[in-house]
Amino acid sequence: MRMRTEQGEARVTEGHDSPGVQVDVHVQPGDARRALRAEVLEGLCHGPKELSPKWLYDERGSQLFDDITRLPEYYPTRREREILRAHADDVARLSGADTLVELGSGTSEKTRLLLDAMDAAGQLKRFVPFDVSEAFLRKAAQGLAREYPRIAVHAVVGDFEQHLGRIPGGGRRLVAFLGGTIGNLKPAQRALFLRELASGLKPGDGLLLGTDLIKDRERLFAAYNDSAGVTADFNRNVLRVLNRELNADFDPEAFEHLAPFDETNKWIEMRLISRKAQSVWLKDLERRVEFAQGECLRTEVSCKFCREQVQAELSDAGLDLAAWWTDADGDFALSLAMKR
Ligand SMILES: C[S@@+](CC[C@H](N)C(=O)[O-])C[C@H]1O[C@@H](n2cnc3c(N)ncnc32)[C@H](O)[C@@H]1O
Repeated sequence: MRMRTEQGEARVTEGHDSPGVQVDVHVQPGDARRALRAEVLEGLCHGPKELSPKWLYDERGSQLFDDITRLPEYYPTRREREILRAHADDVARLSGADTLVELGSGTSEKTRLLLDAMDAAGQLKRFVPFDVSEAFLRKAAQGLAREYPRIAVHAVVGDFEQHLGRIPGGGRRLVAFLGGTIGNLKPAQRALFLRELASGLKPGDGLLLGTDLIKDRERLFAAYNDSAGVTADFNRNVLRVLNRELNADFDPEAFEHLAPFDETNKWIEMRLISRKAQSVWLKDLERRVEFAQGECLRTEVSCKFCREQVQAELSDAGLDLAAWWTDADGDFALSLAMKR
C-alpha cells in the first residue's frame, strides 16, 4: 500500500510479514539501484575509486557486521554496551523521552538496554528503528515488537543522509545513533548530517551519540583487520552487491582487504586492493572498469574522536552536551546532547 505520511510518500506495510509493526519504506529497490548506478559511475569510473559504506549492508553484509561485533578484536560494541549498562537509567531520566528513534539500527541488540530502562521508567511509548537495510530491519523490528508488546514499533527504511525528515514526529524524542556509525561520515558530511538532524528536533529532544575514541594504533588496526577474516569478508561483500545489482563480474578474491589508520584524518580507512591488473565488466552500465595491480577501492572510513571535537561538532549543530560517558578503559564514548 502506498500512503501519504506527514513527511511525504512511503510504502507502508502492516501485516502478516510484520505483525504489530508499521514499516515505512522510503528507499524503494528501484531508487536504491538508481542511486548505486550513479554512485558507481562517479566513484569507480573517474579518479580515486570510492564507494559509500551503505552498500556494504545488504542482508548478508548486515549479518557479517553482526558477526564482527562478537569478534575478540572488535572492542567498540562491548565497550558501548558496558556504557549503556551503566548509564541507560541516566539516559532515560535526563532525556525524559517517550519515543526512541535509532538511526542505523541494525539488530538493535544493545538498544534493548535503553528500551528496558525507558520502559521501566514508565515513559516509553514508541520505538522507531531506522535503517537502509530493509530485510534485516523488518526481521529486527518483528523481534522487537514481540519482546516489547507495550511499545509501538514503527520501523523506517531510509537513508540517514536523505530521509531524516521522514522520522515520525510527535512526542518527546531521543535519537540514538550508536556503534560509532557517525564516524562513517567525513567531516563535511557529518556537519551537514548533524545540522539536518538537529533542525528536525524540538527543544528538549535529545541525541544519544556513540563515538569511537582515538587510541593505541595497534588496537585500532586489529579491530578492523581481524585474524578470522570476518571484516575482510564484510568488505568484499560490496563486490558481491555490485555483481548482483549491476550484473558485474568482480572476483571478490582478486581483492585484498586492508584497513589502516590514517594519521592525518584520524580515521580507519577500509580498502579493497586489487591483487593484479584486472578489468571488470559492469554489464548494466555497459562500462568496463580497470584496476592496476595494487590499486585501492575505498569502501568505508571510520573516524575516531576526542571529547572536544564531539562537543564542538554537536554545538555547531545546535546541540548542547548534557552528559559524556566512557567505558572504564576510555575506549568509547556516549554523548547525550539536547536540542538548544
Ligand atoms: C556500523 S553498523 C551499526 C549497527 C548498530 N547500530 C550497532 O551499533 O551495532 C551501521 C548500520 O547503519 C546502517 N546504515 C549504513 N548506512 C546507512 C544510511 N546511509 N542510512 C541508514 N542506515 C545506514 C547499516 O545498515 C547498519 O545497520
